[in-house]
Amino acid sequence: MKRLLGCLMFLLLVGCAQPHKPASDDSLYQDLGQRAGIQRIVEGMLLNAAQDERIVDRFRRVHIELLRDRLVEYFCVEAGGPCTYGGDSLPESHKGQNLTRSDFNALVESLIKSMDTQHVPVPVQNRLIARLAVLRGEVIGK
Ligand code: HEM
Repeated sequence: MKRLLGCLMFLLLVGCAQPHKPASDDSLYQDLGQRAGIQRIVEGMLLNAAQDERIVDRFRRVHIELLRDRLVEYFCVEAGGPCTYGGDSLPESHKGQNLTRSDFNALVESLIKSMDTQHVPVPVQNRLIARLAVLRGEVIGK
């Protein structure tokens, strides 16, 4: 029994140490409207963030077209699409920004607003949000 428990603990620990799982198929990518749909969603998100006084300052000194391209690639990969992400890791690119949980939630709001405008069905929205939510620890407080 003790040994069984030990094994379970080990599996749990190993399981938790696994890197973020890749998407199992490209259905989310298809449901988001492929690369063109993802680009519209990302552009809408950045435009909404630019109107949100809680986070607009974060993006003031950023090359916004470059950021847009990296975000499109990142979301595309997360959704199981045929893209390659060419940017830095999330901890690296958010290091020193001292982002908080509220910043994170504000950006997610911008994203949801954008997907609403693009008429992305709510269950599809939730699948993207779920994939991003688990990444929060990689971007905040670093
Ligand atoms: C899961 C959530 C997030 C994801 C997936 C994400 C993804 C990314 C990606 C892919 C980049 C580009 C990195 C590169 O160019 O090498 C980036 C940069 C950036 N992100 Fe995020 N991000 C997230 C959350 C946030 C939040 C909450 C904020 C602020 C409210 C933010 C602000 C920025 C800024 C300002 C940059 C540009 C950094 C620079 O060019 O120096 N991000 N993010």
